[in-house]
Amino acid sequence: MPCVVLHVDAQCPDPSVIARAARILQAGGLVAFPTETVYGLGANALDAEVVAMIFAAKGRPAHNPIIVHVAALDDAKKLVSSWPPIAQKLAERFWPGPLTLVLPKAACVPNLVTAGGSTVALRMPAHPVALALLRECKLPLAAPSANRSTALSPTLPAHVLAGLADRIDLLLDAGPTTGGLESTVLDVTIDPPRLLRPGLVTIADLEAAVGPIESSPLAPRAEETARSPGQMRRHYAPKTPLEVTTNSHKLVEELCKQGLRVGWLTHIDDGESAALRIVLPDDVAGYSAGLFAALHRLDDAGLDRIVVEEPPAGDDWLAVHDRLRRAAAV
Ligand code: TXA
Ligand code: MG
Repeated sequence: MPCVVLHVDAQCPDPSVIARAARILQAGGLVAFPTETVYGLGANALDAEVVAMIFAAKGRPAHNPIIVHVAALDDAKKLVSSWPPIAQKLAERFWPGPLTLVLPKAACVPNLVTAGGSTVALRMPAHPVALALLRECKLPLAAPSANRSTALSPTLPAHVLAGLADRIDLLLDAGPTTGGLESTVLDVTIDPPRLLRPGLVTIADLEAAVGPIESSPLAPRAEETARSPGQMRRHYAPKTPLEVTTNSHKLVEELCKQGLRVGWLTHIDDGESAALRIVLPDDVAGYSAGLFAALHRLDDAGLDRIVVEEPPAGDDWLAVHDRLRRAAAV
């Protein structure tokens, strides 16, 4: 059965709509809701049976743990066996916001949420709808991105419906999400803390708050034992073959000449092309916000290839490069 879609204002969500969504969550249902990064697929994090439904709906491998979302620092502390000073510092500085902290888990967190591991990933989202929902349902919410496993993350309600319409109970539609890339994941169970997934909070932001962090990529390991399975090589991927290159204009023209239908994603506005071209803003916030929607559009256009102009270098762009590398992996 297709899910119910309720529209809700992104800044001032109607309390009666939030209450309806909260009741569904309390009754063990699945509700997709907006965060400031991407849409999440939420369920009661303390109930292993409904968390199992998240894995089933997404087709998510059981070895990939899920982020738990909370409305307040005190709620986060109930889910961990220790809350070190660095967690306090980072939470005070970046919550609510796109930073996920990996901490030692408390016994009340089902093993399914943490993929059998001894740590739990926690974040307090900054979106008014997500916060209102968390407060109203009075539950921590396990919420991965609301897409089928390995597919592109959803930044629009339509993206959620395309992947999950018949697998969830309700979608709270608050329009496009503003951040566009998933949260930064930081493991604070070790010293120095280790970056597990680059995101909207940059390494420079983190280091300004707590000093040096370990940000070199983890050595490749088997998927089963990866420290953060978000590091799976192919992830966030369109169905259409995608490649990232400098001087993309030339490659695009070559492929078009060969008779291929080409999608072209670039941040450099340099003239006409036979390709289906999307020009993203050349600032990192604008680019990040538009990236997944652009990839969804190109992927849905029935093309043979997607060519992406290599975005600018630099720390700020790390998360963009990370997502594009995974999108291009075969
Ligand atoms: O912005 C976001 O983080 C979005 C919104 C909905 O909050 N959520 C999201 O969830 O991106 P998901 O499931 O698509 O990605 C969660 C990432 C994965 O890379 C997962 O491996 C990692 O967090 N993760 C979760 N729990 C972990 C843990 N205990 N230890 C290490 N990594 C963990
Ligand atoms: Mg995801």
